Amino acid sequence: MNNPASSPAENPPHGAASRRGPFRPGERVQLTDEKGRMNTVTLTPGGAFHTHKGFLLHDTIIGQPEGTVLPNTTGQLYQTLRPLLSDFVLSMPRGAAVVYPKDAAQIVTMGDIFPGARVVEAGVGSGALSISLLRAVGDAGYLHSFERRPEFAEIAKGNVETIFGGPHPAWRVSLGDFQEQVLVEEEPGSVDRVVLDMLAPWECLDAVATVLAPGGVWINYVATVTQLSRTAEAIRADGRFTEPEAWESMVRGWHLEGLAVRPDHRMVAHTGFLLTARRLADGATGLVQKRRPSKTDFSDEDLNAWTPQAVGEREVSDKRLRRVARDASSTIQRGALPPEEAQARREAEKDTEKDT
Ligand SMILES: C[S@@+](CC[C@H](N)C(=O)[O-])C[C@H]1O[C@@H](n2cnc3c(N)ncnc32)[C@H](O)[C@@H]1O
Repeated sequence: MNNPASSPAENPPHGAASRRGPFRPGERVQLTDEKGRMNTVTLTPGGAFHTHKGFLLHDTIIGQPEGTVLPNTTGQLYQTLRPLLSDFVLSMPRGAAVVYPKDAAQIVTMGDIFPGARVVEAGVGSGALSISLLRAVGDAGYLHSFERRPEFAEIAKGNVETIFGGPHPAWRVSLGDFQEQVLVEEEPGSVDRVVLDMLAPWECLDAVATVLAPGGVWINYVATVTQLSRTAEAIRADGRFTEPEAWESMVRGWHLEGLAVRPDHRMVAHTGFLLTARRLADGATGLVQKRRPSKTDFSDEDLNAWTPQAVGEREVSDKRLRRVARDASSTIQRGALPPEEAQARREAEKDTEKDT
């Protein structure tokens, strides 16, 4: 029988309590106007949301249940809701491309990320995927994220703490190159799942094969078919994994209005490809594919071709990353401050930015 004292209702998983109940100071709220335009504000006692058509006092939102519709000073109506994870990751401070919610959902399900799982991830980037992975492993799980650039790790930390309302008990971040650092920090065969979102996952093959337990899942997210192909061929050539499988997902929204029910005119046509393989037991020989491609090797010239510029990654300066990291950490703190202090902090941040 369940012990009522430890039931989820009385002892909710990390971050759950702050996603329920009336609006509280410091929370982020999504305001949608009658034209469907959305703005996200952090509730501050004494604060206000201004437009050219009047303003809405934060104090009129604080204490209301989610879903309340409120008029501003000129009668414009606003629907108030807490942003969902999918809203948050698309609007949070970021320094590089984030994994979109549609791909994060695929990674969690097809990567078989289960409550209590031991997962390693790289790179952490802005932390969008880390948030979904943390939700999936839960408080009793373990997510160890590796990132080579400290500025990204700071951005991710700010974003994770904003959505969970503080540090997550299952999360650990380490700086350095995954392929070296994971071997220092994780025992061989101790990891259930490996999730990579980076330029060159093939460089991590040996490290993944070392830390992944037999049967463990390795899932990769890559932006281009050239990365996909090189990773798949490296996995095949290694022999310690099952046959790799690849796919992409496309989500097409629908317009729903009276008899005009049809797909939206615009969609996000491409985000990335997913590629999985599972670790075989030591000593096992993989099943050989019946039809092998005629040529799977890359020439030396090919091997030097994968640079951030070549695969279309935009170079992000350290200065810009430091600014986004400040934004990400001040998102957590600003909501809890009185309005004058929050304003003063914004001014101070602007001055620091000019100095850097
Ligand atoms: C596209 S971003 C990751 C985005 C992240 N998944 C998200 O959803 O916000 C790629 C990140 O991988 C990092 N990276 C690339 N190669 C790495 C490696 N070998 N080890 C650790 N981090 C790496 C980069 O610095 C960058 O932050």
